[in-house]
Amino acid sequence: MSAISHPSGLTPTQIEDLQQRAIAVAQNAYAPYSHFRVGAALLLEDGNVVTGCNVENASYRLTTCAEQSAVATAVGLYGPHIRIRAIAVANLNNTASQPCGACRQTLHEFSTPDTRIFFPAEDDTVVETTVADLLPAAFLLSNNSDQ
Ligand code: THU
Repeated sequence: MSAISHPSGLTPTQIEDLQQRAIAVAQNAYAPYSHFRVGAALLLEDGNVVTGCNVENASYRLTTCAEQSAVATAVGLYGPHIRIRAIAVANLNNTASQPCGACRQTLHEFSTPDTRIFFPAEDDTVVETTVADLLPAAFLLSNNSDQ
């Protein structure tokens, strides 16, 4: 029996798996200052899944967000041509949390117009949208075609 397909083209099992991986990696977060542990899981177009968590610093502005950590890991593992199909973001505080502005720009760099993103909203609901909708006016460089 085939799984019911979601409008994103992802199966409910794929979405659930991505969310579970985001929760799992959030347990590894280094967040002694905010106590806000975040995890992100990226499903790449080739099927690989890469995760990341936030890594804080005593010099607060040097903190790396979960989404940025996941993107840096994905590029390190698979190279500069990765494309993200879907993203799940989770936190361990059972609260709503949207990707910050900087993370939207980071994710946009490796997304397509169809890249889906899932993150926690109020009342235990999940927002599903696209990275393009989260950042409709991303910064682009016109001369970045050398890779
Ligand atoms: N954080 C993320 O990891 N991702 C976001 O999109 C928003 C914020 C982290 C950064 C910091 O360690 C903590 O959440 C509180 O801001």
